[in-house]
Amino acid sequence: MSQAPGGGQAWNPEGYARHARFVSDLGGPVVELLAPTAGERILDLGCGDGALTEQLAATGADVIGVDASAPFVEAAQARGLDARLMDGGALTFEAEFDAVFSNAALHWMKYSEAMLAGVARALKPGGRFVAEAGGQGNIAAPRVAFLAALARRGIDPRAIEPWIFPSPAGFSRRLEAHGFTAEAIDLIPRPTTLPGHVASWLRTFGGPYFELVGPDEQDAFVAELVDLLEPVLCDDAGEWTLDYVRLRFRARLG
Ligand code: BEZ
Repeated sequence: MSQAPGGGQAWNPEGYARHARFVSDLGGPVVELLAPTAGERILDLGCGDGALTEQLAATGADVIGVDASAPFVEAAQARGLDARLMDGGALTFEAEFDAVFSNAALHWMKYSEAMLAGVARALKPGGRFVAEAGGQGNIAAPRVAFLAALARRGIDPRAIEPWIFPSPAGFSRRLEAHGFTAEAIDLIPRPTTLPGHVASWLRTFGGPYFELVGPDEQDAFVAELVDLLEPVLCDDAGEWTLDYVRLRFRARLG
């Protein structure tokens, strides 16, 4: 998954595979919505380590993955994929794809206007843009915990919030402004049980927030976040379930 330009999130493919493999494992429904067919040219935007890109390529589609993280691009290339280092806000493709696909990446690009313009440019006329990412209300509990723990340190992080989670109505308007028609767009609550402790999730995904806290304070910061989150996200067996909400859509150009 790529990040917004300057988003401040560094990715480590090994850590990601250990703590966040569920992200691509849960990508089945958006792959189904894409319904790739052999011979189609598909761009995987924010391809991460290429786990889903590989699935798309296995259908016989001709797939290129792009990501803004060099370690992720290297991990995807190690799977034998055509993966390229490219920022989602600076796509260089012109009318060459039947479809642009994306899973769990657009919120890092803040669903930016530059990204939407680049996707529209990359597609052939009538091409489809099929994606899933965080939508309105996504991970509300961790977001509030980050805001509260930073506020206690006198930091207002709203200006650097790394993500944006739009509503279907708001995002449909933005798609239309870029020449797309939304054929399907849904907000889907998807409570997600983590493979381990929430502390690993916080450290894997909260990079931009951790940068605001001094190196000596990181452990205390995590402990405080865990304390805030435990009553709402942890069950009596010690399992953590996060309040994921997906925005899933299929839009057509023109
Ligand atoms: C998501 O996939 O919705 C997501 C994961 C980590 C941080 C923000 C959003």
